Amino acid sequence: MELRKGLEDIAIKETSITYIDGELGRLYYRGYSIFDLASFSNFEEVAYLLWYGKLPTRHELDDFKSRLAEERSISEDISTFVKRTAKFGNPMDILRTTVSMMGLEDRSEGDLIGKAIKMTAKIPTIISLIQRTRRNQEFVEPDPSLSHSENFLYMIRGERPSPSDTRVLDVSLMLHMDHEMNASTMACLVVASTLSDIYSSVVAGISALKGPLHGGANSEALKQFMEIETPDNVEKYVMNKLSSGQRLMGFGHRIYKTMDPRAKILKEYANQLSKNEEIKRLFEIANRVEEIGIKILGKRGIYPNVDFYSGLVFYAMGFDPDLFPTIFASARVIGWTAHVDEYLKDNKLIRPKAIYVGDLGKRYVPIEER
Ligand code: CMC
Repeated sequence: MELRKGLEDIAIKETSITYIDGELGRLYYRGYSIFDLASFSNFEEVAYLLWYGKLPTRHELDDFKSRLAEERSISEDISTFVKRTAKFGNPMDILRTTVSMMGLEDRSEGDLIGKAIKMTAKIPTIISLIQRTRRNQEFVEPDPSLSHSENFLYMIRGERPSPSDTRVLDVSLMLHMDHEMNASTMACLVVASTLSDIYSSVVAGISALKGPLHGGANSEALKQFMEIETPDNVEKYVMNKLSSGQRLMGFGHRIYKTMDPRAKILKEYANQLSKNEEIKRLFEIANRVEEIGIKILGKRGIYPNVDFYSGLVFYAMGFDPDLFPTIFASARVIGWTAHVDEYLKDNKLIRPKAIYVGDLGKRYVPIEER
């Protein structure tokens, strides 16, 4: 039996949701280029596309938007829990627990996409409540008259965002919605393949996304730029980091061997948002890290990934750094649930093998003789 560490180059399902061309740096959702979707589409339309496999008509989109908007409120129990834990808890731990609570509260059977819509609608409310509680600010009730992204920023800031800020968040969320068979999607499928429920799958997805090699990399990347302090320090910092065997956060990808197309789009937004001194300086540092990082690692196919510039964008938009992975999760929940839905149409229990390398036939030694 062949050992494939990290399941590298192993396909576990056929999919018509997402295609990645890792050599050319291209990404497609349901056949549409991410560049076109980022230019012409919006959060609700792309969520619909991923779940239902086609772009909605005007009427379908209007219905879908209202359905999402109606589901934004969270229960009293969830709200109390978030308020009690926001000041000390890791936001991904809080999010994981609240999704688990949603599962406990929802006793209905079936309707996987309906439940996915509920989670997608409620997660921004939870994220906003975490940030506002920590800042001793009053909770802002979701406004169903606003789009998903406009409402998300409205709940975070307490005032309606500009159309350009709303657009930046909208596109950023679209870029995070799906990415084929990444670690967190795989975690969701492992759970779903046992015929467990969709909330349990999403809890597994959040748990996997939390790690710094996956969705946790966005806050780590920003932390890195903050530690560097000035563009003049970049070269020394990068050399020290790499020569001591550490990884450049926001660099490298299992599939992309060139610049991640999502990073290209987010870089543009980070540049656009570089209005005050701090963000300008961080953007300059990031640019320099990108340049030096590519010079050293590019020949090995290690380039900036989605997490390299996303943290800077989220920070400039007013989110706390340790909330970034939860923003990632708020969008990826769509991809997770779309993949679970697709997988369950032809389910097969996921049960790989391990190659045993231990001893056999050992004599059991009673505890007194050990
Ligand atoms: N900095 C320095 N070296 C790196 C990096 C990096 N960011 N990424 C990979 N390498 C090296 C690694 O040290 C290894 O070298 P060697 O063969 O000499 O031991 C080689 O490249 C292969 O690395 P790997 O970990 O075996 O390859 P992988 O396909 O499992 O790695 C990765 C993918 C994302 C885990 C890795 O690139 C990494 O740790 N990156 C930093 C964390 C990060 O930015 N994660 C976000 C990933 S993309 C979005 C997401 O999923 O959230």
